[in-house]
Amino acid sequence: MATIKDVAGLAGVSISTVSHVVNGTRFVSEEATSKVRDAITTLDYKPSALARSLKTSKTRTVGMLTSSNANPFFAEVIQGVEATCYDLGYHLVLCNSGMSEQSGLEKQAAYLQTLSEKRVDGLLVMSAYSSELFFQLLDQQSFPLVVLDCNAPLKNADIIMDDPDLGGYEATRYLIEQGHRAIGCISGPNLLSPSKERLNGYRRALCDFGITVNPQWIIEGALTAESGYQAACQLMTLEAMPSALFCGNDLMAMGAISALQSKGLIVPDDVSIIGYDDIELAAYTSPPLTSIAQPKRKLGVMAAKTLIQRIENPDTAPSVKTLKSTLVVRHSVKDLGGIYEKSA
Ligand code: RIB
Repeated sequence: MATIKDVAGLAGVSISTVSHVVNGTRFVSEEATSKVRDAITTLDYKPSALARSLKTSKTRTVGMLTSSNANPFFAEVIQGVEATCYDLGYHLVLCNSGMSEQSGLEKQAAYLQTLSEKRVDGLLVMSAYSSELFFQLLDQQSFPLVVLDCNAPLKNADIIMDDPDLGGYEATRYLIEQGHRAIGCISGPNLLSPSKERLNGYRRALCDFGITVNPQWIIEGALTAESGYQAACQLMTLEAMPSALFCGNDLMAMGAISALQSKGLIVPDDVSIIGYDDIELAAYTSPPLTSIAQPKRKLGVMAAKTLIQRIENPDTAPSVKTLKSTLVVRHSVKDLGGIYEKSA
């Protein structure tokens, strides 16, 4: 295998000149650069990534902390992140902290420690549990940080997400515009900031249209299909059921549809359902799911680009970017007729 010494010998330059060309650590004349490049090609020289990272103190590796890449929403975002890292010459190390609150918080802290020891050049954090301890740990890191899908109170991080309060509002307003007044909500965990904000949006819409919130119709799920199923089962034990449900993500909406159908109820005739995310599967459920579509791939691409830009230009000021989510109407909401005016 060719060594750096062989390249220097063939190119007729010093070893340190070869090192500067390979690592981009100092200006080298065009003539010497081209001799080094030719020698590298002729000898098929492969510089060691480890040696290079010791020299430049950069590993061209970014870490990404997420809760579960088994959830299609996260998988679709990660596809955008991974493709962008690949295009821009970075490696991605993915860490799943899990969907349960306790293990999630513990694993987030443990992974943060490992990634920092592995000297990642920057970190993407997606859908973080909103714990003060975790945010304090993030604030102490010296590498660039981009947070996706969470309104984190961090001084030095870029934040990219949709407006979850508005999304929750739009979903609920759509149900109201279709004539529903008995509207329940299967929300995501309160410890996740977008879940909490979507629930706020739901409450705000009901309030704006003069509809009283029935606390029995609000159930906290865990963003899984199973939790949506269980929540719908719980609702079916009540004396009065809502005519429509806003679900904090599509997986919970799918679980709820399955529970309702298993008890002989018809979606949307008996209960209307609207989800959030618009994952690819949403178009193929029975009935096809109406949902608030998040621009998932765009979120991943923008996050990776923003992080790499900050790694390469550390003086860039952190920014907050808000992406637009849109309503996708399919067949899971029944139009009951009747126009409801916004009160006040
Ligand atoms: O499906 C996962 C959900 O949790 C998404 O809506 C995402 O925004 C996250 O908060």
